[in-house]
Amino acid sequence: MITGQTGIFALGDAAHGFFEFALRDGAAAEALVKAVADLRPPRTTVGGVNVVVGFRPELWRIVAPHDAPAGVHGFDEPLRGAGGYSMPTTQADLWIWYAAAAYDIVFDLGSATVDALAPHATLVREATGWSYKHTRDLTGFEDGTENPTLYEAPQIVLIEDDAPGAGGSVLLFQQWRHLSKDWNALPDERQEQVIGRTKPDSVEFEGDAMPADSHVARTKVHVNGDELPIFRRNVPYGTVSEHGTLFIGFSADQRRLQRMLEQMAGADGGPRDALTRYTTPLTGAYYFIPSVEALRAFTTPDDGDHEVQVPVAEPPR
Ligand code: HEM
Repeated sequence: MITGQTGIFALGDAAHGFFEFALRDGAAAEALVKAVADLRPPRTTVGGVNVVVGFRPELWRIVAPHDAPAGVHGFDEPLRGAGGYSMPTTQADLWIWYAAAAYDIVFDLGSATVDALAPHATLVREATGWSYKHTRDLTGFEDGTENPTLYEAPQIVLIEDDAPGAGGSVLLFQQWRHLSKDWNALPDERQEQVIGRTKPDSVEFEGDAMPADSHVARTKVHVNGDELPIFRRNVPYGTVSEHGTLFIGFSADQRRLQRMLEQMAGADGGPRDALTRYTTPLTGAYYFIPSVEALRAFTTPDDGDHEVQVPVAEPPR
């Protein structure tokens, strides 16, 4: 049985940490993958944490040439759209996402991970995420309405059995800063036009009522009349003065993620996504998320020496 990384589908965590690393000069890609596979955060009901790890697609192809999907690539160059608009690339080599009920677990585990990987990789960027009114992003709209259910998501997210990279997935990770002053100055009716859904209950506009440049219109990808979905796990990040959305999109098929970005940027000849007038992409990277079995192939037999221990918080007295 080939299993996708379970953290992709683990909903409901309130605290998130995202860690991006660069391979050290002279360090071996395989040694890094082994060190990551040997990270064994406690997966128990007391220390419970969800984990997803991903690698630059080209790095994964070096260490597992027969288990890498064909053609999957990093965010190699800025994505250029209409009228000089562009989305930056900040591709790194390794991406780790820890999610837990509270931030102390993410913090301790993140610190221990940075130390454990230090011989092989350096931390180049980190972000913390949290949930806002349970399902909303910092535009105030519900984010994820159109997502597939957990019954449907594995088929959309995971590469099919027998294909190279089976059980793996492609992640698009982008940090989007919100221009909240400009956004909040818009009346709700205008915000709804920008998103393409109503604000209180997230009802999608139908037919001619859907503006061609709305976010929903620009992120629908069709092939032969069929809509091609992805699975989004976006979380808010930041402070009162600087904040936004960490876009976390998984798909078995990188092309649909790329198509969505091109449509948002107006690189397909269509209108630029109106939401990009109120949010700015600060980062952009693609990672390959190998299956559990593909990662397990790199683990050192469990002799206890490779555990990353996270202190479990003392209960209040
Ligand atoms: C600032 C960044 C972003 C914000 C705040 C945002 C927010 C939203 C919201 C509020 C919706 C409507 C409700 C829903 O179905 O979830 C939505 C839909 C969607 N977004 Fe985004 N989004 C962002 C970036 C992106 C990016 C970068 C992509 C793809 C590369 C994307 C893909 C989608 C898709 C596929 C849908 C569903 C469209 C449909 O109804 O078929 N979003 N987003």
